[in-house]
Amino acid sequence: MTKIKQNSPVLFFYNNSKKWLAKISKNESFHTHIGILKHSDAIGKEYGSKLITNKDKYVYLLEPTMYDYVMRIQHGTQIVYPKDIGYIIARAGIGDGQKILEIGTGSGSLTSFVASVVKPRGHVYTFDVDEKFMKIAEKNIKKAGVSKYVTQHNLDLKTAKKMPLEDMDVALIDLGDPWVIIPQVRKMLKGSGSIFAICPTMNQLEKLTMALVENEFTDIESTEHIIRNIEAREGKTRHSFQGIGHTTYLCFARKAFFNRGTTKSSEKPKSVKTTKKSPTKTIKKSSAKSSKKPVTKTVKKTAKKLATRTVKKKAKKSA
Ligand SMILES: C[S@@+](CC[C@H](N)C(=O)[O-])C[C@H]1O[C@@H](n2cnc3c(N)ncnc32)[C@H](O)[C@@H]1O
Repeated sequence: MTKIKQNSPVLFFYNNSKKWLAKISKNESFHTHIGILKHSDAIGKEYGSKLITNKDKYVYLLEPTMYDYVMRIQHGTQIVYPKDIGYIIARAGIGDGQKILEIGTGSGSLTSFVASVVKPRGHVYTFDVDEKFMKIAEKNIKKAGVSKYVTQHNLDLKTAKKMPLEDMDVALIDLGDPWVIIPQVRKMLKGSGSIFAICPTMNQLEKLTMALVENEFTDIESTEHIIRNIEAREGKTRHSFQGIGHTTYLCFARKAFFNRGTTKSSEKPKSVKTTKKSPTKTIKKSSAKSSKKPVTKTVKKTAKKLATRTVKKKAKKSA
């Protein structure tokens, strides 16, 4: 049985929209519309117990989960929500002991959640260029109790000369132009390592996918995750009119070596040539090659035919 004591984290739960998250401090209290919630009244109680207010209302004293921290995080930026984080963790196979590279710390929502999954042996190395957001993230990560498993860097990897990390298991990218940073990320990922980029618009997905192919990534998948709350009540269960709408699209891919592992020498030349170059370039080149000459020839031939016909017709008329 876990009893609440001084400094224990507690979620004072009244209902889904009214809940308060705090570390117990015996001289503190919350003044709320349902009355006063005295921290000292929680000390010695088991998690899950009730606490009665001076207005004879009650809250449940719950042990906070990472979901509770992330949903109550101080927003400096847009954040990644648990509905998307869940899929990121599952699809990329994030687990204890992994080394995670994150570009775009923002408010530290994704950072905190992922750190709680890779701990105690893993670590999140997170990069941001804005010190103001880095400070907000630092506070949020501390509140979530995972500071030990996170290292924050104030560095722009887009312009960095040398990549500071290698052999990363997973890379998470959340910035406006993720496609720009794919070559750098590739250098830091291990073979078959996963990448996840957060893309609020479809235009970002398009540009990113092209960059992923150009940089030899495979298993590319773009998804959107919609969560729908259901209000379950006897005889009148229906979906809720509230909830989170569109947040973002997610783009997943894995680092491959398009050029390695070909065993039959007869297979080599063609696949090596076509896959080594950027597909966009190849498409442009091949379409230019295949269309330019024949089109010119056909046009010339048709023009010649028409000209001959016209001349013949004219000659017929005048005769
Ligand atoms: C939308 S926020 C990330 C939110 C974060 N995933 C979360 O869940 O809280 C985007 C962040 O990317 C940062 N950023 C923009 N360009 C960057 C770059 N070149 N390198 C690192 N971070 C960058 C911004 O300062 C901002 O904090």
